Amino acid sequence: MKTWRIFVISSIFITGYCQDVNLTFPEHLKLGVATASYQTEGAWNANDKGVNVWDFWTHKYPSLIADESNGDVACDTYNKYKEDVQIIKNLGFNFFRLSISWSRILPSGLANEISKDGIQYYKNFITELIANDIEPVVSLYHWDHPQVIEEMGGWTNELIVDWFADYARIIFTELGPYVKIFTTINEPQIFCSQGYGSVKTAPGKLLQDVGPYLCGHNVLKAHAKVYHMYDDEFRATQRGQIGMALSASSHYPLDADDNVSPDTAFQFECGWFMNPIFIGDYPEIMKTRIDMISERQGYSESRLPRFTPEWIAYIKGTADYFGLNHYSSKIVEPDPEEEFNVYNTDEGIIHTRNSTWSMSATSWLWVVPEGFGNVLRKIKNDYGDPTIFVLENGYSDEGELDDYHRIEYYYSYLKELLIAVNRDGCKVERYAVWSILDNFEWSEGYTKKFGIIGVDFDNPSRNRTYKLSAKWWEKVLHTRTLLEVPRSSAPNNYTWSFMITACCIMSVFNYFHIFR
Ligand code: BGC
Repeated sequence: MKTWRIFVISSIFITGYCQDVNLTFPEHLKLGVATASYQTEGAWNANDKGVNVWDFWTHKYPSLIADESNGDVACDTYNKYKEDVQIIKNLGFNFFRLSISWSRILPSGLANEISKDGIQYYKNFITELIANDIEPVVSLYHWDHPQVIEEMGGWTNELIVDWFADYARIIFTELGPYVKIFTTINEPQIFCSQGYGSVKTAPGKLLQDVGPYLCGHNVLKAHAKVYHMYDDEFRATQRGQIGMALSASSHYPLDADDNVSPDTAFQFECGWFMNPIFIGDYPEIMKTRIDMISERQGYSESRLPRFTPEWIAYIKGTADYFGLNHYSSKIVEPDPEEEFNVYNTDEGIIHTRNSTWSMSATSWLWVVPEGFGNVLRKIKNDYGDPTIFVLENGYSDEGELDDYHRIEYYYSYLKELLIAVNRDGCKVERYAVWSILDNFEWSEGYTKKFGIIGVDFDNPSRNRTYKLSAKWWEKVLHTRTLLEVPRSSAPNNYTWSFMITACCIMSVFNYFHIFR
């Protein structure tokens, strides 16, 4: 075959392939934004609000926060929520994920005293959302439990299972009539590991190798108890959905032949909580490794507590959807020191990155769009094809208003989402941007920004400013189609398609020229 024919035919195939992705958001996929109470609300001591672990931590140890800041005022959402609702409405988002501050509802941590002001604040906020056609999605807990609960052991005391259920019952009673989607607990693997195994996040207890698993064990029991309570007392009248939010990265092996490390890393990050809920009990790899390492360390029993068969059955099936927070991917390899019987971590994995991945402003957040699609397909395949709610996805920078990199991130990640949904049949029904506003980024303070709306933290009025990404999102939401990045640093499919089509046309001209 003549070279030009091969060229034209392959060009048509390549062009066809490039345009094969359906870039339209299906009707059932709702797009929203997410925030969390401590990171945005401020009003840390308004009326009778109690002190939570983050109030306590940031006031007592300011030097542990990058800019020595705190969430005392944060975005002042407590006073400015109406303005924020208008922004979300004008942009065209379908839902808003917020979290409730436990200590704003129960100043003493326990259910003996309910704050009227706290209940009223959230009622006002939620009814304002509904009046503006924005669906509220409510997390009961996003890391800010009452300090008094912490003084009693926090998530390491099994009594928290009942305390959390008492708090949840109040929320379902007061706010449940307006809310159709609840998330019990946000990212327990992060606050259990960092809050009870390091001083990175509040409550910063160095309970070494035991604390994180004790915390996780009680989290799972508390989650299940709240799920069953919703079933027994509220579901028939409120008809909502309830689940947990877990962060899951995509893991790639350093050595292509290593087909163990990626799944091991996934199980220690996500399976720790999702296996008991979707499959029943902790992942085998966690049980085997932690049992073995505990024994070597001289513990009398495994540091990973065990559920009785009754608890396994009680926890299994307690999710109406799989709540996924996804940001990035990792390269994984087995820890080489294990060959010499040195066990540095329970998972025995070293996490690095591929040097070609571009970075955000946050040390752990590398841009790897295909990892998003891989996680969605893994959840579909390993957890029985559940309904998935993506409850967080986002990119950090240092606050640029012309945030092209954030748009590129969203464009490339959403494209993978659409491939997973439109081509591979992943049942994703919700997708939330993290975050609508720049906010208090935990130990990074206000030095890292995730918002599509900027907030002037130096100004007492906390003015909001639309970033370029907000304007891009507005167009995407109004067309329900993934739109091009305004200025892209890399050739994208449209560019390739254009170049290839141009080549085809030139070949045809060339042909006539040659044979005339
Ligand atoms: C957390 C958010 C946090 C975001 C970016 C998520 O893991 O749920 O609270 O701001 O990551 O770090």
